[in-house]
Amino acid sequence: MRLSEDFIAELKYKSDISDIASSYMQLKRRGRNLVGLCPFHGEKTPSFNIYAENGSFYCFGCGVGGDVITFIMKIENLDYMEAVKFLAQRAGMTVPEDAVDDSMSKLRTRVYEANREAARFFYSKLLSPEGKDALSYLRGRALSDKTITRFGLGYAPNNRYALTNHLKSKGFSDSELIAANLVFKSRSGNYVVDRFVDRVMFPIIDLRGNVIAFGGRIMSDQKPKYLNTSDTIVFNKSQNLFSLNNAKNSGTKRLILCEGYMDVIAVNQAGFTDAVATLGTALTTEQAMLMKRYCDEVVICYDADEAGQKATQRAIGILRNTGLVVRVLSIPDGKDPDEFIRKNGDKGAAAFKHILENSGNDVEYRLFKLKQGFDLNSADGKFAYLSQAVKVLSTLDNRMEQDIYASKLSEEVAVEKNSIMEQIRKSAKSRYSNDRKADFTKLQSKMSGRDDKMNPEHQKKPRVTIAEQNLIAFLVNNPDKLTTINRLISPDDFVTEFNKKLFAYFFDRIKDSKEPLTTLSADFTSEEVSSIIAIISNYSQVAATDSAMMEYINTIKEESIKPSDTDIASASTDELDSYLKKLKEKRK
Ligand code: CTP
Ligand code: MN
Repeated sequence: MRLSEDFIAELKYKSDISDIASSYMQLKRRGRNLVGLCPFHGEKTPSFNIYAENGSFYCFGCGVGGDVITFIMKIENLDYMEAVKFLAQRAGMTVPEDAVDDSMSKLRTRVYEANREAARFFYSKLLSPEGKDALSYLRGRALSDKTITRFGLGYAPNNRYALTNHLKSKGFSDSELIAANLVFKSRSGNYVVDRFVDRVMFPIIDLRGNVIAFGGRIMSDQKPKYLNTSDTIVFNKSQNLFSLNNAKNSGTKRLILCEGYMDVIAVNQAGFTDAVATLGTALTTEQAMLMKRYCDEVVICYDADEAGQKATQRAIGILRNTGLVVRVLSIPDGKDPDEFIRKNGDKGAAAFKHILENSGNDVEYRLFKLKQGFDLNSADGKFAYLSQAVKVLSTLDNRMEQDIYASKLSEEVAVEKNSIMEQIRKSAKSRYSNDRKADFTKLQSKMSGRDDKMNPEHQKKPRVTIAEQNLIAFLVNNPDKLTTINRLISPDDFVTEFNKKLFAYFFDRIKDSKEPLTTLSADFTSEEVSSIIAIISNYSQVAATDSAMMEYINTIKEESIKPSDTDIASASTDELDSYLKKLKEKRK
């Protein structure tokens, strides 16, 4: 069921994109637009633009764009209908009933319900006689009853039909349970069986309080140690964090980033509710951006082992790139946070607090790690350390920070600070020039149309593609020119399929006196929407005069009457003559 044009128009009218985006990010005015750091990819200089005049946004860094509905879909991780509902609620509007029950939304709702019921079931099993061993396992890991309840931990019984039978008795269908990834089809394909069997269960809860997935730990040393829900229609492991639902209410502007479920839970029990963990994968930029919405500072608290240290270095880069302040907590004795807290018994919480307060920032950490690899007693070692350290410091974009560490370094290796600063500047300069070169290459490849996934003909016919794009942008921004344009060119004259479709779309809307962009996010996929906004927002860069418009039209028409190479090879003399005549007419 489709929402009416009027409904979406009113919803958009009441959902000012500048206001809405401002509640997720910092925006500054630049001319008629607002700019800010893109919430959809990591960056330090703003390339995210909001065009208030047509209610759209576009990021020149990652190429994501759209209208206010697309913005909410992306930032809240919702589908179209859910984003509409979200905005409607905010605007005090009611979404027409018959519009809501599209099958995808319905299935999502069922998956949420099945997950919630499963979490209740696992919890009740943990407290039942069947869950005796699981409960003593958790208590053996020093978890209090309060902690177990707070995290809603549970037990998946040692019976392949336990959850399946329970959920079926509650009215869930096989296909709903498969969609939730709670069960899978038996080998014969005739019936379904539980995915989690004889495991301690950790529910994963999103920011709206929905149970979206589970992690299940085996209680022996069999493998796999943890089994997690695979990605489903309600769960994407690279876009969620364990316990962010708790951490967002902690009242600190900090998050403690751990590796595992048990670490987060132990750190919580020790009194720090601002701990989160990734879900069995390495940290992603999306997760870093998500964290940025709830904190200014992240303390990385990974395992002390080799793998944990490697992951720390990687996470530093990702987090810093999103503009977060980063600290690194080092756990003594090669432990993970959970083991460290437990080992310290009654004093666990105090001991953790102590190392947390003493955690240094990421630069100190990187320099410290670097230093371990060199022998500072030899001149060679000292020099090698210094050159590497200078590289690290040259990546800092804060002069003051550079200055502070240059002073420290100068004392440490007994080299004059000025010469260290000099080296930092040189290194920063060459980095800058490399970055500019990379930008240039990127721009070049963009202009060549090589990465234009939406319009595969762009690369082969760049000139006409760009003329088409410019004409589309011209039309959308000057709907009053429709009649003039209509007299000169029709969608059929467009050469590339994608642009032909777009031109026809806007042409029809404007002809019907509709706002060109109102239902964009309903009518196109999100990749298409990004491309379209890129085309339209490029408008300010292109000439917007009538003579420019004529030039776009002529370029397109010239190309559209041009026969292909094979046409020419098989053409008769008459046909070639007529083509040349047409060309001459156009050139007049
Ligand atoms: N993990 C996973 N699948 C595995 C192993 C680990 O998804 N087979 C994920 C889990 O989210 C786990 C995290 O990686 O919490 C860290 O793994 P690891 O350090 O091996 O486990 P711990 O968190 O220390 O778990 P425990 O203390 O229960 O041994
Ligand atoms: Mn552990």
